[in-house]
Amino acid sequence: MPEQKPATRPETICTQAGLHQLESRTVPLAPPIWQTSAFAYPDMEAMDEIARGEEPGFIYARYGLPNHRQLELALASLEGAEDAVVTASGMSAIAATLFALTIPGERVVADTHVYRGTRLLLERDLARFGVIVDFVDCGDLEAVAGALERPARLLWVDTLTNPTLRVRNLPRLAALARAAGALMVVDNTFATPVHCRPLSWGAVLVVHSTTKLIGGHHDASGGVVAGPAAVVETIRGQVVRFGGRGGAFDSWLIQRGLVTLPLRAAQSSQSALLLAERLAAHPMVQAVLYPGLPGHPEHRLAERLLRDGFGAVVAFEFAGGEPAVRRFVRALRLVRFAETLGGAVTTLVHPATTSHRSLPVSERERLGISDGLLRLSVGLEHPEELWQDLEQALGHI
Ligand SMILES: Cc1ncc(COP(=O)(O)O)c(C=O)c1O
Repeated sequence: MPEQKPATRPETICTQAGLHQLESRTVPLAPPIWQTSAFAYPDMEAMDEIARGEEPGFIYARYGLPNHRQLELALASLEGAEDAVVTASGMSAIAATLFALTIPGERVVADTHVYRGTRLLLERDLARFGVIVDFVDCGDLEAVAGALERPARLLWVDTLTNPTLRVRNLPRLAALARAAGALMVVDNTFATPVHCRPLSWGAVLVVHSTTKLIGGHHDASGGVVAGPAAVVETIRGQVVRFGGRGGAFDSWLIQRGLVTLPLRAAQSSQSALLLAERLAAHPMVQAVLYPGLPGHPEHRLAERLLRDGFGAVVAFEFAGGEPAVRRFVRALRLVRFAETLGGAVTTLVHPATTSHRSLPVSERERLGISDGLLRLSVGLEHPEELWQDLEQALGHI
């Protein structure tokens, strides 16, 4: 760059103040937040080299910032994937994956128990784009084999179903998908890579809402898709064209959450198991759905697929339906009623009046979501104090 006299005018000094790279032989111990919407090239030759992929370089926030890339590399490595792309939300990752990998006339087979947002996107948007969408109960392997007799591009399942906590047989489903020439995508949000790595069971892609356990603090929104580099590259292009990246700060917060993910996941799982056992023994609780309980229909499968715990989420049911739920929620003191999961603060949601509110009662009941069902996401409070809160609230129903 040609030599230039130092600026003396306040307007120029103020505007250019943050642009000078400070020299330092040391590197920061925590990642900086790259809060910029674009990067300046030293000259047009550098732009050509970066555009041709001959030199590394960041260009524009929507294409990806250093905070996105750092998180991508960490999450790919956690999931045992070649590469990953991070997005503004779990839904952004799911949408980019579905739209990047299908064309009108192709078919997607998805679990009837798939996350409600995914289901709405499949039914309302992917179908409108001309993709054929069929739902099948992925707990019924024969039904899945039947559904895959007709060509399908994708088989979509969640490791643990939301909110009923059924465990999907990932190795068997992956074998069925592979034999049918379909790519299996697993939403691993509930299990986290600490407890389950779907790629190791034969899935081709894994997606997460990193808003949940991976971020872990109820303060950031994000998503990720991880898998083979070439497929991830196709999805990355879709993310960029959709404008689905999200900001640097959210990725920074999620990366910070990642530091304690194994510790948080272990503690939440341990507390969740304790609370599930106590809830199951309580006379006011009709049923408890938690893969860690020996009575869970897929407990043996969960023991095989999940390691170091069975996850933070417990579902339980009251015989007294919605009136009992309302009295219980009103009496809670520590546990917060909020439409999310996976954070440090323990939260509780009533699927019948929140995520599944718009469904006809008959369909809700077919999915096992009764008016008395609650979904608890166990956080990091002391488990005995969480139990005290739940127990005293149970006294009010
Ligand atoms: C299993 C699962 N997948 C995806 C999502 C969507 O994530 P986000 O809210 O970050 O878009 C959620 C949100 O609750 C979820 O529970």
